[in-house]
Amino acid sequence: MDNQAEKTKKLFIKTYGCQMNVYDSERMAETLGAQGYVTTDNAEEADMVLLNTCHIREKAAEKVYSDLGRLKPLKEANPQLKIGVAGCVAQAEGAEIMRRMPLVDLVVGPQSYHNLPAMEARVQSGRRAVDTDFEVDKFTQLKARPRAQRGPTAFLTVQEGCDKFCAFCVVPYTRGSEVSRPADKIIAEAQGLVEAGVREITLLGQNVNAWHGQGAEGLGDLVRRLARIDGLARIRYTTSHPNDMADDLIAAHAEEEKLMPYLHLPVQSGSDRILKAMNRKHTAEQYLRLIERIRAARPDIVLSSDFIVGFPGETDQDFEDTLQLCAEVGFGASFSFKYSARPGTPAAEKPELPPALLDARLQRLQAQIIAQQNASLASMVGRTIPVLFEKKGRMPGQLIGKSGYLHAVHADAPESDIAEIRMVEIMATSTNSLAGRLAT
Ligand code: 5AD
Ligand code: SF4
Repeated sequence: MDNQAEKTKKLFIKTYGCQMNVYDSERMAETLGAQGYVTTDNAEEADMVLLNTCHIREKAAEKVYSDLGRLKPLKEANPQLKIGVAGCVAQAEGAEIMRRMPLVDLVVGPQSYHNLPAMEARVQSGRRAVDTDFEVDKFTQLKARPRAQRGPTAFLTVQEGCDKFCAFCVVPYTRGSEVSRPADKIIAEAQGLVEAGVREITLLGQNVNAWHGQGAEGLGDLVRRLARIDGLARIRYTTSHPNDMADDLIAAHAEEEKLMPYLHLPVQSGSDRILKAMNRKHTAEQYLRLIERIRAARPDIVLSSDFIVGFPGETDQDFEDTLQLCAEVGFGASFSFKYSARPGTPAAEKPELPPALLDARLQRLQAQIIAQQNASLASMVGRTIPVLFEKKGRMPGQLIGKSGYLHAVHADAPESDIAEIRMVEIMATSTNSLAGRLAT
């Protein structure tokens, strides 16, 4: 092997779960990039495989173990292959992974991946490495991001962790307590992204609207500051908690043109009894009044939510209340999940409902959500709206982009329109997307 070939090692990362994991995977790749790794889409040619995992529901967490099992033949064929587990399963079950899975060389929690270079060196010397510390703020340790050319959209983590302790949720345990990055660091990172070609930034946080970093007066103020960056056309943020929807952030939706008219504001349930048992600290009525205020500020805003069905103790009436709230708000999109008991959470102590009941409730809720989503898409037909084109579509000559309302939109357009915002007349809907033509 010549020197050059020895230096370039290949990294395959598989990302599970949420957008924050997508962001973390990018930063892990960049961190290992400084150690001579380039990313590959093919696990079979990799020198290192990293699984960036999700612990939010049992199914997601179990998948990691079956995927690790599938990597066994690769490791047998190439004993030099290093296998790492990152993310929230690493945080929650690191010790168990090391015990159960001898093929795993490295376990790194979501707050520790600034230490990957040292950990990589350790595994290269034939030892195993585990780091699931919460002590250090990784953002103070990570190097500045490289300035490689990027696509038109990017995620930017501004806040991590959660102090809310909803009774069902593992996030406060896997991601730790709330930490907000300072405004100047966020603005510098955003500027770098824009210089690299990014037009739209989605600010990420488990509780993003609880952002309280140095240098700005809350998320609304941070959004206004970011909006001053020339070349940055669109700003979004996710995921928000209803109790942190400050007046100033709502006002920013009315005043700040670059802030897109879409808000993901999970309510989880429409029943006050269940909201209380979930420790959500608001009622259905308070949520509805909040939605009224947001719509007063930005009447065309599209709202989305997460719902959990079958939380312990959920009665038929509680579930009907959820359907009722969902219908009343008229969400443009929503995600619904069967309750999954997570070890260490308070709700896991309570008796679970029968799985068949959860299936039936999920089906009913999803049918209603899809009907609402279709209605939202249909309401766009005939309108001419700005679309940020992101990439080529499946059909020749076609591009795919997003409306301000986060609908996927496809239209025939020249490739030079990628990363441009164009006015598109919406002609039709299809499953989960809109079809249009460039307005002249
Ligand atoms: N079971 C089912 N769904 C859950 N979520 C979080 N924890 C659980 C759980 N234990 C859902 C919530 C949250 C979304 C990210 O995942 O709806 O908003
Ligand atoms: Fe999964 Fe939640 Fe962790 Fe994101 S924060 S990776 S959704 S458990």
